[in-house]
Amino acid sequence: MKILKSPKEAHEYRKTLNGSVGFVPTMGALHEGHLTLIKRAKSENENVIVSIFVNPTQFLPGEDLDKYPRRLEADFEICKRAGVDAVFTPNAENMYSEDEILIKAPKIKGYILEGFFRPGHFDGVLQVVNKLFNIIKPTRAYFGKKDAQQLYLINQMVKNFFFDIKIVPVDTVREKDGLALSSRNVYLSPEERKRALSISKALKRAAKLSTVTDNIDEIKKEMMNILDVDKLQYIAFVDRNFNYINKIKHGDTIILIAAYIGTTRLIDNIWI
Ligand code: PAF
Repeated sequence: MKILKSPKEAHEYRKTLNGSVGFVPTMGALHEGHLTLIKRAKSENENVIVSIFVNPTQFLPGEDLDKYPRRLEADFEICKRAGVDAVFTPNAENMYSEDEILIKAPKIKGYILEGFFRPGHFDGVLQVVNKLFNIIKPTRAYFGKKDAQQLYLINQMVKNFFFDIKIVPVDTVREKDGLALSSRNVYLSPEERKRALSISKALKRAAKLSTVTDNIDEIKKEMMNILDVDKLQYIAFVDRNFNYINKIKHGDTIILIAAYIGTTRLIDNIWI
């Protein structure tokens, strides 16, 4: 497995590849969710490249950039065992320069929900994914549905910037008890982890309830009864294009939650 440390090395390596390239962009601390993306990429492409880069521009001041889990050696091992061909691990110095041309997330859908509570977050995500796409030039790129708004915006960027890349959405991977896998779960104490479960439980209950009512207020009320979080940021109902909806429409609804358990901010969603 090749370790590529700079955009230049990655560019050179890319030129040697024949056939399709599946790309899995990550910030490392790889878990079963990432592994599912990698396996899917392996099954659909001749080559698989994973990037590991804790991108500073998508963290707001005061967020967890410094304490974000970094486990590069363990991540390399996971990638090697999964049959990844190359891991791209640049650093901020070789990815960014001073006074850069910037990319702005769309004014509305980049600034609602996650973008409202983390203003500028998606500018940073789109900036780095744009760079990664230009460096790796993948045939297909794999993203988890857990970051549903990110997935939507990346699809929009691909359309708006005419990237010739297929974005492949992959279902959220959960622990047996329902907790969505996230690199940030390591921050949770055992007591917090128990309460974090109320998020996936509320979503599951909402999905079940939506089979008997399309009334969002009713569903939301029931979700609030289940949630045992310290600070709820939002419960939202949107269609697959991230327009707010006021009635459930099966096949075109995403229900999303963002909440703090202690000092850990968690997001989760369910597509119905
Ligand atoms: O979803 C993530 O891990 C990150 O936002 C991404 C897409 C790797 C960009 O840094």
